[in-house]
Amino acid sequence: MTGDELRALFLEFFEGKGHKIIPGSSLIPQDDPTLLLTSAGMVQIKPYFLGELEPPSRRLASCQKCFRTTDIERVGDTSHLTFFEMLGNFSVGDYFKKETIAWAWEFITQHLGMPEDRLWASIFLDDDDAFNYWLDTGMPADKILRFGEEDNFWGPAGDSGPCGPDSEIFYDLGEEVGCGKPSCAPNCGCDRFVEIGTLVFMQFNQDKNGNRTPLPKPSIDTGMGIERNAAVVQGKTSVYETDLFVPLLDCVSRLSGKKYGTDNEIDSAMRVVTEHSRGITFLIGDGVMPSNEGRGYVLRRLLRRAALFGRRLGLDRPFLKEIAEITIRQMEHVYPELKQRQDFILNIIEMEETRFGETLNSGLELIENIMATPSIKSTKIIPGEDVFRLYDTYGFPVELTSEIGASRGFTVDLEGFDREMDKQRQRAKAVQKFGSAGMVKNGVNNIVDIMTTPFVGYSGTKQRTEILSMLVNGDSVRSIAQGQEAGIILAETPFYGEMGGR
Ligand code: ALA
Repeated sequence: MTGDELRALFLEFFEGKGHKIIPGSSLIPQDDPTLLLTSAGMVQIKPYFLGELEPPSRRLASCQKCFRTTDIERVGDTSHLTFFEMLGNFSVGDYFKKETIAWAWEFITQHLGMPEDRLWASIFLDDDDAFNYWLDTGMPADKILRFGEEDNFWGPAGDSGPCGPDSEIFYDLGEEVGCGKPSCAPNCGCDRFVEIGTLVFMQFNQDKNGNRTPLPKPSIDTGMGIERNAAVVQGKTSVYETDLFVPLLDCVSRLSGKKYGTDNEIDSAMRVVTEHSRGITFLIGDGVMPSNEGRGYVLRRLLRRAALFGRRLGLDRPFLKEIAEITIRQMEHVYPELKQRQDFILNIIEMEETRFGETLNSGLELIENIMATPSIKSTKIIPGEDVFRLYDTYGFPVELTSEIGASRGFTVDLEGFDREMDKQRQRAKAVQKFGSAGMVKNGVNNIVDIMTTPFVGYSGTKQRTEILSMLVNGDSVRSIAQGQEAGIILAETPFYGEMGGR
């Protein structure tokens, strides 16, 4: 069964159970300040759970693009991903635990064909209802394990929002894959038991202080990662061996001339390059642009990691675009936005990767000079100020400075670096107080004294007009490069300012 077949089968199955299939949303969450990136299928369902919006149906199902920043450093092993697809069925105050558990079981055993004796479940400590519904499926009592909040309570997705106790489903890959300890079981931490699905019994709305109040109605939120489930049904122990990743891995192999499966270090670097290239493609496809903060920094970090690991494979010229092209070709039938924005995605990747290549070369030279300074040469510690300057002025990642330093017997003053970062945050806060009005004024004063921009939106939403000024970081500029974030001042505007006075 291919990844495509699995995705389609899930949606068909839940459509058959009266669910309305809704499209997944963008990786940039809409009107949700609690989240940097869409991290689960439930993100777009939140307003329905909270009773803020009326859902199109009480039963919904989707395939959602997800991005999780928590695991970036762990990517390179056989299972951790930043970008993945999550299949989910949702009940907004309709069915609850009984149907959720029964349907998950039916889908996994009868439609995905997973053998019953390989499956385990975990539940929240005192959730006897969930326990009994699992018994009803035929699951033996000793394969239904109870855990506390750490493992079996899900959410909120950001710092506040819907959450509740959950039940997880595990697939046993077999003794030979695991740690071999007699106590090995789900949540052991080794690779033997793969978590293939999470069923969340949404009951609370948690505020920023951790206080929980009941949701308008108990609801259901589930999630199954396509990649992991594809690995199980395809009889693989790693997501990278599934049809979802093999074409990408082949591309990395072709570009680098390295063979996958011969050397652990090489394999791991190939996985990082593959995974990150896919993530980058989807992030830019949804409008994330490289920058030094927020989601733009996540993208920048991912792209730089991919480029760096590429160097370990001998790829020292821009190459990420080529893997992005394969990603687009492979996924465009599910995510047509990739094809629509193909040129844009590829251009941004190429520009950013080229720029990083230059940064890398000039940064390497700077580090050499720093390490040659007599006082530093004797202590073998690269001072926090220098690490910060490399990072802030040249965009040189701290991890990289540490790594290069370490290879020459130098350590890095990370505490000093953190202190410099704090100082910079304070400076940024002070600047922010002036907001964009200050930025606009700075840019405009030199050119023309504009008191107000006439608003023409009452008579139409299109207007042919003149650009009076262009601003980058508050400075007036004469040109803007593609992909650069900038402000423009128009002679008249049909755009209505929702905030910020003039
Ligand atoms: N929201 C749950 C998860 O992300 C289903 O695992």
